[in-house]
Parts: sequence; C-alpha cells; structure tokens
Amino acid sequence: MAYQRDFASAPVSTAPIGIFDSGVGGLTVLREIDRQLPHESILYVGDTARLPYGDRSPDEILQFVREIMTWMMAQGVKMVMMACNTSSALALEQVQAEFPIPILGLIHPGARAAAQAGQRIGVIATPATVASDAYRQAILEVDATKQVWQVGCPKFVPLIEQNRLQHLETVEVAKTYLQPLIAANIDTLIYGCTHYPHLAPVFKTFLPATIQRIDPAQSMVKAAVKELELLDLKSTVPGRPTQFFVSGCPDQFAHLAARLLGPTPMVEQVNFELAVQPSQPGRRG
Ligand code: DGL
Repeated sequence: MAYQRDFASAPVSTAPIGIFDSGVGGLTVLREIDRQLPHESILYVGDTARLPYGDRSPDEILQFVREIMTWMMAQGVKMVMMACNTSSALALEQVQAEFPIPILGLIHPGARAAAQAGQRIGVIATPATVASDAYRQAILEVDATKQVWQVGCPKFVPLIEQNRLQHLETVEVAKTYLQPLIAANIDTLIYGCTHYPHLAPVFKTFLPATIQRIDPAQSMVKAAVKELELLDLKSTVPGRPTQFFVSGCPDQFAHLAARLLGPTPMVEQVNFELAVQPSQPGRRG
C-alpha cells in the first residue's frame, strides 16, 4: 500500500504523536511518554472492540494495524509509537514500508535493553508474540550467547481489561505463568506485552527481587526522543491534553483508565474499520 502524503501537510513539531494498543496496555507507554516527552500532544487509540490481539492471526493483526495507521494519518500525526508488542512483532516492518512517517515498535528496544541487563532472559508475552519468536530472534541478534525462555500468557489481558488486577485468581494465574521462568533461573524478565506492567505489584509478591524487570517502553520512548530531535520534530511548547479514541465502549475504557492513570479521561468512539475501504486503490489484502 502506498500511502501518499500531501507535501502541504508536512508534519510540524506541534502535531500529535499517535500511540495505539488493543486496550489499556498502551497506558503504560503513555506514562513513559509523559515522563520523557512531557511537551508532546498524544492521540491514544485503544482497539477495545477487537481485543485481545494476542489470540488473533498475523493477517488479522496486520489488517487492524493498517486501519489504525490510516486513521491516525488522517488525524495528522507526526509519528506513531506502537504501544502494543503483538503489533510490533507482527506488523511493524510492513507498515513502516507503507506509511511515510516514523513508526516505532517495542521489540528491538526491549531486546537490546534486556541483552544489556542479563544473560538468562525470560519473556512473558501474548500467544501471538511468542509464536512470532520476535523477541528471541531480536535478543540473539544483539548477542547470540544469550539464553531466552518465552511464555505465552493468554489470561493476563482479559483479567486486566476486566479490572481484576487485585483478584486472587490473577495472582494464581501469574504464579503459574512465571513458575517455569523462575525454575529456569532467569536473571532478567521482559514485559513483552504493554498490559503486563500493570501487574508489577502482583509480580512483586512472589518474583525474586534479583530478577531485573525490563519494560520495553522505556527504551522505545528514548529512541523516539532521539528520532524527534533528529527530524526537528520535538515539541518545545506544552502539548494539548491526551485525546483518547476507542473502538469499543468509551465509558468502560474511561473507568479502567481512571483507575490505572488517575484522572478520568474523555474518550470518544471510532470505527477504525471504516478508515480502510475495501475498494481503496492500491490496498493490499
Ligand atoms: N498490549 C498488547 C501487547 O503488548 C496487546 C495485548 C492483547 O490485546 O492481546 O501485545
């Protein structure tokens, strides 16, 4: 797909940065952006009507990402950060080739940070991310001597999206998923899904403190800072309040986001499927 950018609408530093996830996972990335890039305006997309992405096929994920990218381009974003590992693992290279703005993913920044931190690396991620083997490959590209264990955790995203963070069931599920990694004696753990940092207080109750936790968002946002500076696109004036758009129920998202973030956000509903019409010329299936 060749997405044409009109030169008259070349990005300016005050244009928003788009970030997207299937749901509230992207809020952990938003927190990091607020810390490292406090002057940026953010446009947040949560594709809540179609979550979890982690159970979807690679074709479906690519299709969803194309739709969201197309919609974000129409909103005039200057950069996109994928706040979703599953999308980063399965669609990043493809959409980077299709859309004429910088698009950053989480896998390589996370893999580099983990490879610097330790030798025995555990990855917890969605089934789709684990099946892609993206983290293992990216870590071994950095250093082929590293050892990598990956665990798919299909129950985490539904538990978080259903606001069941404090439930006993969540602790039990977490122990079951993490047990093989503890048994493998990992020294480093990658949060390979942006939802999982929301579970950090749960992990803390049983995960040995010696295991270093890597949140790939920290390194991705660091890379975004560099890229914005290089392109002279970093905002120097205070940004507008974050705008939230979801494909599912805005109230449900606002309620959960308030619990995880603090203030209750204003959330609008959008059908991202409409962004890419089947008849659009040049569209690839
Ligand atoms: N938070 C996303 C990720 O980082 C997607 C989770 C999902 O919807 O399964 O992979």
